[in-house]
Amino acid sequence: MRIAVTGGAGFIGSNFVAFFCKNHPTDEIVNIDKMTYAANPMTLEFLEIYENHKFFKIDICNFDEMENILNGCDVVVHFAAETHVDRSLQNAEDFLTTDVLGTFRILEIVKKSKSLKKYIHISTDEVYGSIEAGSFTENSPLNPTNPYAASKAAADLLVLSYLKCYRIPAIIVRFTNNFGPFQHPEKFIPLAITNAMENKKIPLYGDGTQVRDWLFVQDTCRAIEVIIDRGKTGEIYNVSAHQERQNKQVLFKILSLLGKDENLIVQVPDRVAHDRRYSLSCEKIQELGFEPVFNFEKGIEVTVKWYERNQQWWKTVKDKDEFKKYYKNRYPGL
Ligand SMILES: NC(=O)c1ccc[n+]([C@@H]2O[C@H](COP(=O)([O-])OP(=O)(O)OC[C@H]3O[C@@H](n4cnc5c(N)ncnc54)[C@H](O)[C@@H]3O)[C@@H](O)[C@H]2O)c1
Repeated sequence: MRIAVTGGAGFIGSNFVAFFCKNHPTDEIVNIDKMTYAANPMTLEFLEIYENHKFFKIDICNFDEMENILNGCDVVVHFAAETHVDRSLQNAEDFLTTDVLGTFRILEIVKKSKSLKKYIHISTDEVYGSIEAGSFTENSPLNPTNPYAASKAAADLLVLSYLKCYRIPAIIVRFTNNFGPFQHPEKFIPLAITNAMENKKIPLYGDGTQVRDWLFVQDTCRAIEVIIDRGKTGEIYNVSAHQERQNKQVLFKILSLLGKDENLIVQVPDRVAHDRRYSLSCEKIQELGFEPVFNFEKGIEVTVKWYERNQQWWKTVKDKDEFKKYYKNRYPGL
């Protein structure tokens, strides 16, 4: 089988490429990434050991190059996206371009393709918005509350329309918050780990009681593997590990693992329209036989150790002017 992965130099995409190459040595993995600010070239060095993997620097919005590269592939797993909510609140243009237009271009190729048997569209719990109690099912209405989530919801709706109009072989997968190795240090958990290691203040939005449901990235990779194998086209699958934690609880855990003092935490003004809680009901993916393996405590230990052992990986990102400018603007005074 030849499988194309978009966004394979990013956080979840690179973990998935490594996971799939290891577990499916006779399959061929085509990795497509534009290498935006969110992609670290050092991640590709980690992937070089897999001989069944080939990297191509391509923008998913480039129809001709994408059509050429997807020609002959059996499966596409589409991760590539602009993903950071805070950046989408500053400027949403790239989100609309990549997340919506980029997805549209891929859908047009899938519509025409003779080789593709499955298009796995990677989405997020954020498309449902916030929920005070209970959990969203795959049939819950979409109610995004920030430009990132809106761009992902728009992409999901496009996929649904192509399913109806053209019967393309699409499956939508909606995950809760992921954590693990290779995540960009602008994101909540890696920022906390790396700032703590540098003895720098750790920003906590508002009162820190927002709840996220944490899924270790290896479990995400296993869920996608199950969906490639036996997911039904035309379906939507929610995926979570039912491990809800308040943001401040996550920070306390990280600091205790690193032996650092809780006074490194500094409250900063809350994100505008910050969703209070995300929660997904996952019975459909369970019916396919998927159960997460990592609990939060094990996953966070593995993650902290990875950032301790791979300091050059995140230091090269944090040392960039682009990151420093973003950080100063987002957290003035820190
Ligand atoms: N991280 C999470 O917690 C989470 C949770 C649920 C869903 N998701 C979804 O999973 C996917 C991957 O998320 P992530 O956290 O790994 O993101 P990421 O930001 O770490 O990686 C995104 C990758 O996409 C690439 N990319 C961006 N624009 C591109 C373009 N125009 N053409 C080609 N490549 C491009 C970037 O270079 C980067 O390597 C996204 O679709 C995201 O919405 C993420």
